[in-house]
Amino acid sequence: MNFADSEVVASILEKAGYQLCGEIEGCDFVLINTCAIRDNAEQRVRHRVRELRAMQGRHKRLRIGILGCMAERLQDRLMAEEDNVSFVCGPDAYRRLPELIAQVRQGQKVAEVELSTSETYADIEPVRLGSNGISSYISIMRGCQNYCAYCVVPYTRGRERSRDPQTIIDEARALFDRGYREVTLLGQNVNSYGLSPDRQGAQVAFPELMDRVASIDPALRVRFATSHPKDLSDELLQVMSAHTNICRCIHLPVQSGSNRMLKLMNRKYTVEWYLDRVDAIRRYLPDCSITTDVIAGFSTETLEDHQATLDLFRRVRYDYAYMFKYSLREGTYAWKHLADDIPEEEKTRRLNEIIALQGQIALENNRQEVGREYEVLVEGESHRSKEQLFGRNSQNKVLVFDRIPAEGGPEAVSGTYRRVRVTDCTAATLLGKLV
Ligand code: 5AD
Ligand code: SF4
Repeated sequence: MNFADSEVVASILEKAGYQLCGEIEGCDFVLINTCAIRDNAEQRVRHRVRELRAMQGRHKRLRIGILGCMAERLQDRLMAEEDNVSFVCGPDAYRRLPELIAQVRQGQKVAEVELSTSETYADIEPVRLGSNGISSYISIMRGCQNYCAYCVVPYTRGRERSRDPQTIIDEARALFDRGYREVTLLGQNVNSYGLSPDRQGAQVAFPELMDRVASIDPALRVRFATSHPKDLSDELLQVMSAHTNICRCIHLPVQSGSNRMLKLMNRKYTVEWYLDRVDAIRRYLPDCSITTDVIAGFSTETLEDHQATLDLFRRVRYDYAYMFKYSLREGTYAWKHLADDIPEEEKTRRLNEIIALQGQIALENNRQEVGREYEVLVEGESHRSKEQLFGRNSQNKVLVFDRIPAEGGPEAVSGTYRRVRVTDCTAATLLGKLV
């Protein structure tokens, strides 16, 4: 989401006459787009800001601005604590950046952190940053009001609002016409697209939006993230099964395998509900990969709760998981009402247990892939060898395979679809041969 937001920021600033620099050395402004979801994300930003201080000693004109969720969360406090930061700008205030920068150039320090109930940046055509020219993000909604007990997002990104559907379809079509072959529709909870109480201009719900974007062209792959398990509907799965270009990959964050934890986390579903959704995915889309997010060591988590998470992992057999230690966030329900009572070492131990189990499952899943054939969207040269290409299958797994020299360099084949047979694997990658 931050990546997509930075593309909006670049667009706004280019229109105001600013230019992107290839490197920090010699530029006038460094804008850091930040995440506040866990403390380690914030610590990384603080580290970067302190590194830049040395450079500011050499380049007196260099100013630092902090964008995004950390700006929203800490506001003026961030400038007081890191006195080499000149301005902070929250995620709904990017249209005001040219004004803020003008004020900073006159020597002022400014904080603009007003949240909006309607801003979606729908009319801003993002400048694609660091793009491979093949896949791109499209932000379809902003904000979240699920208020999971541990999560800071509802406070830093504000109320949920959906972007006008026609602007999304137009953006996807324009990307396809420019040669892009994959779009990922982004939102904190895409299943509630168009359903926020105020409706904010969106006249269609998510399954219909997916249907319309997937109908642009069968050669355009469509992905989406993230689905909240409480809202994943059969209707969406039906739409997915009707379009082979909607990718067979669903990210379904579970957070915990214990009903007691899920209730305390305010996730609004049970393990039984979640497993029913997994069964529905497997029924409608037998070849769909499923990925998840999980948190180890949330408030009062017992060894039994932790075992329940491991059991759930064994049952679902995820293809990939983002695994985190619980990090207490100021302002959340958990910060106000629940103790952060699992010692750090114990959180680490539990996390490592989940990571080890998931690594084993991912490797076993990948071994089952050997011998299968996939349509792969080629993205470019493999990082390991100039003689190899890499791409992804519909399930979002990376495949690496030898290129055919007669076809030309990676540029010639990037963005095309190739059939690849899987011949070997690691836990993270499938190795294959062109068919
Ligand atoms: N501590 C640890 N992980 C968190 N996440 C959200 N808030 C926290 C927190 N306070 C994780 C959840 C979410 C993902 C984006 O980040 O797993 O799905
Ligand atoms: Fe955070 Fe829950 Fe919203 Fe996801 S659904 S952004 S975890 S509050």
